[in-house]
Amino acid sequence: MTGRLLLLGLVVVALGLFNAGPRPTSADKLKLVYQWTLLRSPNNDSGSDSKVVFTANNAAPIDAGDNFNAYGNLPMGVTHHKGFLYVTIPRRRTGIPATLNVIDLARNPSVNGPVLQPYPNLLFNSLRSDLSADPKRIVSVYRTQVDRCSRLWFVDTGHLEYPGDAARQVQRPALWVIDLTTQRGERRFEIPPEMVEFGYGIPNIEVDVDANDCGRAYAYIPDYEWQRLYVYGLSENRMWRFEHNYFSFEPRYGDFNVAGRRFVWRDGIFSVAVGGRWEQSATERTVYLHSMASTSEIAVSNRVLQNETLARLGNGVYASAFRHLGSRGPNTQSTSHAYDPVTGVLFFAEVNRNSIGCWNTNRSFSPDNHGIVHLDNEEMIYPADLKIDTEGDLWVISNRLPIWIYSRLNTTEVNYRIWRQSAFRAAAGTICE
Ligand SMILES: *[C@@H]1O[C@H](CO)[C@@H](O)[C@H](O)[C@H]1NC(C)=O
Ligand SMILES: *[C@@H]1O[C@H](CO)[C@@H](O)[C@H](O)[C@H]1NC(C)=O
Ligand SMILES: *[C@@H]1O[C@H](CO)[C@@H](O)[C@H](O)[C@H]1NC(C)=O
Ligand SMILES: *[C@@H]1O[C@H](CO)[C@@H](O)[C@H](O)[C@H]1NC(C)=O
Repeated sequence: MTGRLLLLGLVVVALGLFNAGPRPTSADKLKLVYQWTLLRSPNNDSGSDSKVVFTANNAAPIDAGDNFNAYGNLPMGVTHHKGFLYVTIPRRRTGIPATLNVIDLARNPSVNGPVLQPYPNLLFNSLRSDLSADPKRIVSVYRTQVDRCSRLWFVDTGHLEYPGDAARQVQRPALWVIDLTTQRGERRFEIPPEMVEFGYGIPNIEVDVDANDCGRAYAYIPDYEWQRLYVYGLSENRMWRFEHNYFSFEPRYGDFNVAGRRFVWRDGIFSVAVGGRWEQSATERTVYLHSMASTSEIAVSNRVLQNETLARLGNGVYASAFRHLGSRGPNTQSTSHAYDPVTGVLFFAEVNRNSIGCWNTNRSFSPDNHGIVHLDNEEMIYPADLKIDTEGDLWVISNRLPIWIYSRLNTTEVNYRIWRQSAFRAAAGTICE
């Protein structure tokens, strides 16, 4: 049994490598947009960004006794919208001036080391010197999402994930919605304690907006720690949650081997992607989701997720609405995934094989129908986030996280990279075409 599985694994890996290699009709790989050895302090940049007008005051008090900690500023998430990249730096070390940042593509033509600007400004991102709660500020953000109505959505975990005893919950986790056109905060929703006690297990967010009505929108918020899915309704201004065994890690797939570091992770539900039609329904959409320490993909109708009554009835009533599609194949453990509505392809950031994977949702779900768009054991180490913008471009950030955690980044090498490719061209020439 094990021998056959191993053989199957080797065959699939070999096929995967072949897919990634040069072929006449091979996919266009992702193109490098930016790269850094380490990030630089935003205070060192003289050009203040005139687009950012969130509040009048862009000056901030010195952040809780911190000096800029270049090594601690590890970028994690990337989202693109109309020429601006929103880049997050979760506060896992001291000395991080801003957890939410922006890069203006037009003003940063060089691929090397652009400076991140706090978004919408430094004050909004600053910790109070006594580390007290402040609902007008954010503490730590992992990943963001932009919807078709030009709104930036994210969860501030409210948690300082500092090593050892220094870790602390500064304030309640909160969902934010910022209108990128007016630069105004449109909504702040404090996640109630009945949903979750602490915010530190919230890595990601997906937004599902009605095709005709920006006021009707839902946020799907995974929690890998407590293995739950929170759903927030914008018009309801309420949150409810789902629990399911499928939100758990899979014990057989918790072993990671990244850039020579072996480690075991137990991260549950991590990424949610709104896909195309649910079966033959004209109104329901398929929502895909997966755990990080897992190779399975799960599907559910968005009508199920949007039904608070159903959520309250409990797992015994809704459990069968979640479908286990199958395994994506060996070493396909994935952080973020995202759906491109034009091609119908789901793209995966695959952290256990330094690759970007794909599956055409119009084909049957099997490892054979999963392809590799881009694989690079040097430059694509740990793709931490993958998002698709409203123009159909794929954006990826790779950050060598396991080396940062378990050993030490080589600070003379490039460690962080942001990549881009049109979803259509990325899928072309692969099994996902
Ligand atoms: C600016 O950068 C230099 C070198 O990169 C560093 O020594 C200095 O501390 C930085 N200044 C601020 C205010 O962060
Ligand atoms: C929500 O779920 C409940 C319980 O299954 C059901 O009675 C109700 O019709 C559902 N509402 C919608 C809008 O589907
Ligand atoms: C999916 O495939 C079927 C059969 O090949 C085809 O009729 C249909 O148009 C495809 N749908 C999409 C969205 O590509
Ligand atoms: C860091 O990277 C540089 C360039 O690749 C290499 O010459 C150097 O040996 C590396 N340092 C360590 C400690 O690995």
